[in-house]
Amino acid sequence: MRIMGGIGTNPKHKKAFTHTPLQGRKREALVARAPTGISGLDELIEGGFERGSVVVVMGGPGSGKTIMGVQFLYNGVVKYNEPGVLINLEHDSERFRNHMLRLGMDVEKLEKEKKLVVLTYSPNEIREIIRGGGGIVKDAIDQIGAKRVVLDPLSAMIMFYDKKSDMRSGVVSLFSSLRSWDMTTLALVEFHSSGVSMEAVHPTIAFLADAVINLNMAYESGQKDNVLEIVKMRGTGHYRGKVPYELTDSGIVVRSQGKRA
Ligand SMILES: Nc1ncnc2c1ncn2[C@@H]1O[C@H](COP(=O)(O)OP(=O)(O)O)[C@@H](O)[C@H]1O
Ligand SMILES: [Mg+2]
Repeated sequence: MRIMGGIGTNPKHKKAFTHTPLQGRKREALVARAPTGISGLDELIEGGFERGSVVVVMGGPGSGKTIMGVQFLYNGVVKYNEPGVLINLEHDSERFRNHMLRLGMDVEKLEKEKKLVVLTYSPNEIREIIRGGGGIVKDAIDQIGAKRVVLDPLSAMIMFYDKKSDMRSGVVSLFSSLRSWDMTTLALVEFHSSGVSMEAVHPTIAFLADAVINLNMAYESGQKDNVLEIVKMRGTGHYRGKVPYELTDSGIVVRSQGKRA
């Protein structure tokens, strides 16, 4: 059984839990974690994302969403033995592999080892995935025994819904499928997407996700540094505040020195 973050908040449970107060490490151990392996990030979030949760990463173009997503999958395989699936809805697959190789991540090697599946779809094909109710994604998950999924970007999928109510139920059903398959999911959402009023959509997505991380580029905010902010993370005592991050030739590095959950 997956232990939810809301324990202790339901008055019915109160008695049982006040008998044996849990402290420190024991309390942390109640929620299984999927570490990102990203330098400086895991220590802000009690060691990693809650296993089986949906984490939305929001940011402008070039803020490092794709890099973060691929690091999450790549580290998942090489450091934690968790295979992963990348739903790539935006990038030319060959150029994408070369870009990741430049960052020290040999995507093709992991694909050959059947530890990583990259599903690349054109915008026209996205509609088919949505209609299929995620069946294609599930097939890829089963093929390699995946534990992690990245949707890059979720915003490309939701642009296909004409009505906000349809978008909402589409996202609810996608997120609940991913949770029921026990995937730890990163859904990337781009600010400033054209075609649909993303401003109206962001709060809905943020509400439906278990966790939200914002990536703010220095040039957009007028600040000195790019900053990462954990807006919410259910079941996790996370660091609250803005933390500088950099895009380096070995991926995202979060400058969290001394900061803790
Ligand atoms: N080898 C590299 N060294 C340093 N920075 C890089 C490197 N490769 C990419 N970047 C930075 O990462 C950005 C792209 O990140 P990406 O994850 O693709 O953004 P997003 O998906 O949010 O649009 C580039 O604009 C560049 O600033
Ligand atoms: Mg991207």
